[in-house]
Amino acid sequence: MLTATRPQFTINRIGKHLGAEISGIDLSQELDDDTFARVAEAFFDNEVVFFRNQKLTPAQQVAFTRRFGILEQHVRKESRLAGHPEILIVSNLLDDKGNAIGSQDAGRFWHSDLSYKAEPSMLSALYSVEVPIKDGRILGDTSFASTTAAYAALPEATKQRLQGLKNVHSYRYYRNKNARAQEEELARGGRVIQEHMPTEEQLKTVPDVETPVVRTHPVTKRKGLFLNEAHTSGIAGMPKAEGDALLAELYAHIIKPEFVYCHQWQAGDLLMWDNCAAQHKATFDYDLPQRRLMYRTTVRGTAPF
Ligand code: OGA
Ligand code: MN
Repeated sequence: MLTATRPQFTINRIGKHLGAEISGIDLSQELDDDTFARVAEAFFDNEVVFFRNQKLTPAQQVAFTRRFGILEQHVRKESRLAGHPEILIVSNLLDDKGNAIGSQDAGRFWHSDLSYKAEPSMLSALYSVEVPIKDGRILGDTSFASTTAAYAALPEATKQRLQGLKNVHSYRYYRNKNARAQEEELARGGRVIQEHMPTEEQLKTVPDVETPVVRTHPVTKRKGLFLNEAHTSGIAGMPKAEGDALLAELYAHIIKPEFVYCHQWQAGDLLMWDNCAAQHKATFDYDLPQRRLMYRTTVRGTAPF
């Protein structure tokens, strides 16, 4: 007799516009097609979902997330997990030589993953292996903002103004902005970040792209704001000062508390976010000896429209 695992699961919405906990699912097991389809539906509906108390090997994380589409291998090769090039290590840990084992500065600014690619990421999944705790307090939260809810709440006149506008997403802009932020942090006496900076050669593989400011979600068809302070270098064809003022206004709007869900991590969380419908940002309120180790898989998306 066929015994497909068909778990009953529950979905608990947490944030006002995004963020839900899914319980009753063990992601180390292969989900039957029907369960997977319902998980995917819940994911796109809630924009951010998480599963607590998972015990996943890198191969199991890859197997689950691969069901959503093609997995990316990050431009920064040095931050990939050995033997699993689809996994990007996001961590503050260092190896024996004092070098970063992964990306230490992921999420310093609000962003969506790989928005600088012609086919930006559809979704990312972050699995927490170690979560920093100090004096009983959990550190290193990640915040998420719904860009679809933010768009829906804009005044009609602003929606009209944004219609047809494009913004430039640039990995080079991001690299430079990050480098500046690191220098400023060092000048303030902050921590040294052993970051893997992309090389010129790596940068050349991701040329700047122009994408619509108002993007339609390929699955839900919701409209959302597709621009972010990490990767957007400007509004295409608009004088810089005017474009920057518009961007500043939209960035401030997107992160209004009503559009934000802040995730406090526990080891064993698998959390997924929709890069077309949400932005996210890290909180760097921890440092060694508090250890943070996360594994990210990233699913390729389609060209924005
Ligand atoms: C990422 C990211 C933020 C964090 O992994 O894409 O932005 O809090 N992470 O680790
Ligand atoms: Mn990110």
